[in-house]
Amino acid sequence: MKKLVSIAIDGPAAAGKSTIAKAVAKRLGYTYIDTGAMYRAFTYYVLKKGVDPRNEEASVALIPEVKITLHPDGTVICSGEDVTRAIREIRVSSCVSYIASYPKIRLALVDEQRAMAKCDNVVMDGRDIGTYVLPDALIKIFMVASVEERAKRRYKENVEKHIACSYEDIVNDVRERDRIDSSRAFAPLKPASDAIEIDTSNMTIEEVIKTVMDIIESKVKN
Ligand code: DC
Repeated sequence: MKKLVSIAIDGPAAAGKSTIAKAVAKRLGYTYIDTGAMYRAFTYYVLKKGVDPRNEEASVALIPEVKITLHPDGTVICSGEDVTRAIREIRVSSCVSYIASYPKIRLALVDEQRAMAKCDNVVMDGRDIGTYVLPDALIKIFMVASVEERAKRRYKENVEKHIACSYEDIVNDVRERDRIDSSRAFAPLKPASDAIEIDTSNMTIEEVIKTVMDIIESKVKN
C-alpha cells in the first residue's frame, strides 16, 4: 500500500492558514481539508436549531443529526444544506469557539478528519492538527501574525465576499477567539513541539507559500 503524506498547518484565527494550505495542496496535488469549516458548520447547525451554543449538553445532543461534507471545490454541505457562505458570517464566527471547546463534538469531528487523512495525501489546517489530530504528520507548520494584521486580512476578505462587518468587531472577535481557543482544556491551540513556526505579519502570500514549499521539499529530500 502506498504511504500517505499528511501536512498539518495550525495557527490562530485569520493567520492565513487556509489561503496557504489551499495553495500548497494545489501545487502538491493533495486534498485540502479545512477543519475550521467543520466546527463552523456544526455551529451554524446549532444556531439553526435555535440552540444556545453556550449550552454544551444541548449542542452535543445534535451530534447524530450533523453530517458535514467538504467538497474539493470548497463547498461545505451540512446535513443537506449548502452552508459555504453562511459559516463565514460573524454570528457563526462569534460563537464557534464555544462549540469547538466541547470534547464530544471535537472527538466526533476528529474521527472524520483522521478518516479523511487515511484516504488521501492531505494538507489539513486547524488548531490541533499537529498536536492531536495527526501527531504523525510529516510536516507541521504553525503560522502566526499580529492581531491587527489578522483582523485587517479577515476584514478585507469579508468586504470582497460582500459579508457585512466592521473592523472593530473583527478585532474583538479575533482576540476573543484566540483567548478561548488557547485556554480550552481539550486540544487547545498551541504549536506541536516539532512544528516550524512562521510569522506571516510582514510576508506576502507568495513568500509564505514559497517558505512552506521549501520546508516540504527539504523534508521530502531528507
Ligand atoms: O480556522 P477558523 O477560523 O475557520 O476556525 C473556526 C473555529 O474553529 C476557531 O475559532 C477554532 C475552531 N477550530 C478548532 O478548535 N480546531 C480546529 N482544528 C479548527 C478550528
